[in-house]
Amino acid sequence: MHRDICALREIRDGGKKRINVGGVKLMLCRRGNQVLASENRCPHQNLPLRFARFDGHKLTCRFHNARYDLESGELEKKPWLLPNSGRDCLVTYDAKVKDGRVLVDLDPDVVG
Ligand code: FES
Repeated sequence: MHRDICALREIRDGGKKRINVGGVKLMLCRRGNQVLASENRCPHQNLPLRFARFDGHKLTCRFHNARYDLESGELEKKPWLLPNSGRDCLVTYDAKVKDGRVLVDLDPDVVG
């Protein structure tokens, strides 16, 4: 079930917003009128993604340069430093925008 998280206007186009909802640390990335939602934690070493670079559909962690597809959560570019936390995929969540509000289903889409 989707939960109302915030207004779309709270996220600038091309930008990110971090928010904690019910114990879930979310990263919301806006691409036009679409929002992509993921955990706010890099699977590589469980560091926060607040400094990650968002380029429209990918998120690149600044710590060791791992790059993730925000639609699938899949690792697209391995980090330069090993080892990792034991999982490769970014947890993503289904998100939609309705009436100017960002709605997110907090059941994870991918757990890697
Ligand atoms: S913690 Fe993100 S790439 Fe290492």
